Order: sequence, then structure tokens, then C-alpha cells
Amino acid sequence: MDGIARVSFRVKLENVEDPNNHFFHSLKLLLGKGQEFNWLYSLSSEFAETSTFIPQPFPSFCNDYVLIESTVTFPFLKKLAPSFQLSDTLFDTFRQIMFDRRREKQIECMQNPRETQEKCEDLADLLVECYEKLNSPEFRRLGITETTVLAQALNVAALDMVSATQTMMAYYLATNPQVQANVHQEIDDVISGKYSGRIDNETVNCLPYLSACVNETLRLAPPLIRPERVCNKDWTSPDGKIRIKKGVTVMTPLWAIHRNPEYFPDPERFEPERFLGERSEEAKKCYMPFGIGPRNCIGMRLALETLKVNMTVILRDFQYTVRQDTRIELKTGLLYLLQFHPVLLDMVLRKP
Ligand code: HEM
Repeated sequence: MDGIARVSFRVKLENVEDPNNHFFHSLKLLLGKGQEFNWLYSLSSEFAETSTFIPQPFPSFCNDYVLIESTVTFPFLKKLAPSFQLSDTLFDTFRQIMFDRRREKQIECMQNPRETQEKCEDLADLLVECYEKLNSPEFRRLGITETTVLAQALNVAALDMVSATQTMMAYYLATNPQVQANVHQEIDDVISGKYSGRIDNETVNCLPYLSACVNETLRLAPPLIRPERVCNKDWTSPDGKIRIKKGVTVMTPLWAIHRNPEYFPDPERFEPERFLGERSEEAKKCYMPFGIGPRNCIGMRLALETLKVNMTVILRDFQYTVRQDTRIELKTGLLYLLQFHPVLLDMVLRKP
């Protein structure tokens, strides 16, 4: 969370235990931490009519997407079902950050007008720019209000997917000791050896095996499980078997696509070698943890670099091991995000 706050808003979190730490508590709320989502929540939102469209077993054309139609089933349940509590506190916190940043910019602008105008360093700067345009004819025409602008700040929740991926990677390494030993070897040779312990963006990009482990984790546990698009014209597949009407929401079930045995033999196995050398060409044909096309994930590079740096820092000194109570338990009821109950592992200090 400190990472989220620093990268997006240049806010450094002090004591997260402090009940008055509004930023921390607002983010926790936004990320749904500690919240349970039951079947009422799922039913109230969307229901996938899978039987009509998904051919069995997984189709060979999975590169073109598996397509399913979604409909709102019981919208009235929204009144009863638990949902993300987007409380006033959350918006108040973001509003306060925007307000402070605007004031800061105004002061800077008076001191150094030219430079400040061109300076845009993070998400908060972008949002302040939007704030300034709230009364412009363009924003009025598009119906962009203060709430629309503040809602963009919710994108920071995406950083939580980095921690979810990191947890799953730790689990896969603990349950595959040989893979973990290979990662340790690479870090020892490259980071501790060649780069004398320097860990940064440049050095972690010289760790192909670690990178393959990140890719393999995102294959088996893609945190955002169903990127969606709304079809903007009637469409029929070349073989005539699939028809999608204009206006239908098309969902991409990443969990299934990433387990297509045609592209990933023995798909349940954690095997980073799939993403090394020539094999990676084949694997990447059927791999899209960050979505694809012009609307894919804008945070992909930040996410991958954060993951690699974090894991290198930890694995340089520690080894993950399983415990008797280590298990993977899916949180049910969530529609878009894959979340697990806490995964318990031990971290053992490596011998120097
Ligand atoms: C492991 C981490 C992450 C994963 C797996 C992930 C995955 C995704 C996926 C699958 C999409 C939908 C793409 C599509 O529809 O084609 C998406 C969209 C998006 N992601 Fe990420 N994401 C991650 C981290 C981040 C981070 C760190 C940020 C921002 C700091 C971010 C910001 C966004 C935004 C703003 C969009 C919407 C883009 C648009 O609609 O144009 N994501 N992400």
C-alpha cells in the first residue's frame, strides 16, 4: 500500500496501524480487504451463459478468444447484496489529495510558471489537470464531473494485483524447490556476483529465469480473470459457429485460456521453462494476463518491474518453504479478481 501511495500520489504512508491514517484505511476499503463476497453479490451483477458458446474441450482457436455472453441476472439483488463500500471517506481522501496538490502546484507555478506547467509526474498530477477542466465546454459536453475524475483514482487498486501475484509466486516456488533453487542460483550469479548486490530496474532485467517464473505465475493465477469488451457490430466467426450481436459483452476467461493443453502441455504444472528460448514463442500465442490490444493494461511494465525487484530482494536472502497449514483457498463470489485467503508459508534465511 505504501508502494501504491508513493507511485500514484507521492504520498508517503506513516504509521499504517494508526486508526487516523485515512489513506491506508480508504485503500483497504477500496481493495475489499477483509470483505467477503457471497453468492448474492455474484448473482446481482452478471451471469455468464457459458453453455451456448464454449466448445469442449478448450478450443484450438483460443488465440481468437473464447466467447461468452453475459447478462445482468438479478439486478434488484444489488440492494441486498454486499458490494465494495465506496464510502464518502474514500472520496474525501482522494479529494483532499487533489486539493493539496492543486495548492502545491499553484504555489510552484507562481515561483516558476514555465516549468510547473509542463511537469506531470504522477496520477495525481493528471487528475489535477482534469480538475482544472471541470467547467470547460468539452467536459460539460462529455458529462465529466468531479465524481468521474475522482473515480479514476480508483485505478490504483490495480497495484493490489501485484501483491496477489507475488503471493502466488512465493507459493509456487515453495512447492517447486528445484525451480526455487534455479532462481537462487541465477540471483547469486547475476546480482550478488556480476552486479555486486545492486538490485534495480537494470539488473533485474538480466534475470531471464526469474522473469519466466513471473510469467508462469501469471499464467496459472492471472489476477484479473476476465477482461471484457463490448461488441460494436454484429459478428460471425469464419466457420459460422459463433455469432455475437452488437452490444453483447464479450468476456475472456483467462484461467481457462492459460490452461489450453495444446499450447501448455501438462497445464497445471508450474514450469517456467515454457517462457524461455524458443518455447516462449509458442506459449505467448495463448497468453494474455495483461489483456491485449490498444486497451490492454497500462500498468504492465510497472507491475512486472515491481514484481521482479521485490522477489529479487526477498530471494537473495530467503527461501520460501511450505508449512503443514499451507494451502490455496479461493475467495468466492468475486467477479473480476482472483483473490485467495492468506497463503501461509515460512521464510527461511539462506546460509551466506
Ligand atoms: C500483476 C499486475 C496486473 C495485472 C495482471 C493487470 C491486468 C490487467 C488486465 C487484464 C487489464 C484489462 C486489459 C484488457 O481489457 O485488454 C488491465 C487494465 C488496466 N490496468 Fe492492469 N494489471 C496489473 C497491474 C496494474 C497496475 C500496477 C496498474 C496501474 C498502476 C494497472 C492499471 C490498469 C488500467 C488503468 C487498466 C485499464 C486500461 C484501459 O482500459 O485502457 N494495472 N490490467
